Amino acid sequence: MAIISPRTFPRRPVPQRPATHRLPGALLLALLLTTSCGGADSPARPGAAGVGDALFPNLGNGGYDVTHYRLTLDYAPTTHRLRGTARITARATRALSSFHLDLAGLRVRETTVNGRPARATRDGSELTLTPATDLPKGRTFTTTVAYDGEPKALTDPDGSREGWLRTADGAVALGEPTGSMTWFPSNNHPSDKAAYDIAVTVPRGYTAVSNGELIRRTTHRGRTTHHWRTRDPMATYLATVAIGRFDIHTTTANGLPQYVAIDPTEAKASRKVPAQITKITAWERRTFGPYPFASTGAIVGHLPDLGYALETQTKPYFAAAPDERLIVHELAHQWFGDSVTPRAWTDMWLNEGFATYAEWLWTEQHHGRTAQQTFDAFYDGTDEESKGIWAFPPATPPSSAHISDPPVYGRGAMALHQLRRAVGDRAFFRILRTWLKTHRHGNADTRQFIALSERLSGKDLSDLFDTWLYAKGKPK
Ligand code: TRP
Ligand code: ZN
Repeated sequence: MAIISPRTFPRRPVPQRPATHRLPGALLLALLLTTSCGGADSPARPGAAGVGDALFPNLGNGGYDVTHYRLTLDYAPTTHRLRGTARITARATRALSSFHLDLAGLRVRETTVNGRPARATRDGSELTLTPATDLPKGRTFTTTVAYDGEPKALTDPDGSREGWLRTADGAVALGEPTGSMTWFPSNNHPSDKAAYDIAVTVPRGYTAVSNGELIRRTTHRGRTTHHWRTRDPMATYLATVAIGRFDIHTTTANGLPQYVAIDPTEAKASRKVPAQITKITAWERRTFGPYPFASTGAIVGHLPDLGYALETQTKPYFAAAPDERLIVHELAHQWFGDSVTPRAWTDMWLNEGFATYAEWLWTEQHHGRTAQQTFDAFYDGTDEESKGIWAFPPATPPSSAHISDPPVYGRGAMALHQLRRAVGDRAFFRILRTWLKTHRHGNADTRQFIALSERLSGKDLSDLFDTWLYAKGKPK
């Protein structure tokens, strides 16, 4: 099998983004107080162009909270043209005179807010809408954006490609960390999760796969519409659509519907995948607690040079036939990342450290080396995947170019193993399950994980977490 770890290619060094200014604590507190004390009748102002993510200052937007996206898409694989309408339901969290959406490329044809034309302006990937009348704080409002064009791929600061990726017979949309804005307008930040209805029309003979459950498929005049629904909240980076020819394997296992789509090119190498999805989902339910969503599954595509897999919600995307450990990793993200989502990109180790530790646990429980042996092999550098894990502390990636680097994965998993050793297995698994239960379908941060670990274990763990998550260099 080709892919052994989530990201197998060496990441090229790329010029870093300018450092973002951090506000001193007192100033930040003052700002928070003044904004949160503004009453419902404070004057309407423009919403911010970013949510203030330290690593991605322009991602997401201020002043509203999306509850639902309805995306109606039509794609022509031969001309690569996408026509779309996004209907976005959101609640104003402050009085707004205008607000932003994130959208990269494409042509905006028509925009409305609450059914009335809204003025639209574009500046890079910021789309600004000015409704005919101000939106009062607390009001739920509906925005529609009609758009079209050839959606594009993006190249990340670390050199990897995401967004709208063409395949031999169609396309796949992958959105970590920013690429969703190449195919629909959104509040493109993990802190704003929402439900989705995604309807994709493609020529007959093509399949369009997306997150959640297929609620309807209809063919009209040689074109087939696939309507997918995601009821549980989903971060924009986990939204996907895969268009092409796929072999579909559906079943219901242990009461959970399962949908696996496999590119025929990968069919032979993937023949065990449907059964592996069943078996691994079941093991993770036993290990981590209730499965967070209404279905499980996978998409196995054919993009052999992509170099990574992605935990797209309910159906992780594999760029080629995956091996067992990669399936364990991506399915573990359904709990760690998809259900409990970091509040900001700095907290990426809450995704990758946990999904990596899930691999170590799987190996330990399936006749492989123990998690302690894996830890030791990372610590002494004999494990191939331990390369580069001491470059920076996992909870403070130095820039957006480093959020998927080895410290976030390997040293993040090592931090969890240290926690397990310090509190014992009973408390450790109770911490994981309580974490998942408390923040199910929500957002959380590292501080909250540390507080929970200390509360449930009754131990002061500040040294442990300082050493493994925040201190520079290899811990002694
Ligand atoms: N989250 C993916 C995984 O490990 C890897 C990945 C894909 C990624 N694209 C990314 C990580 C962008 C950070 C940024 O399963
Ligand atoms: Zn991962």
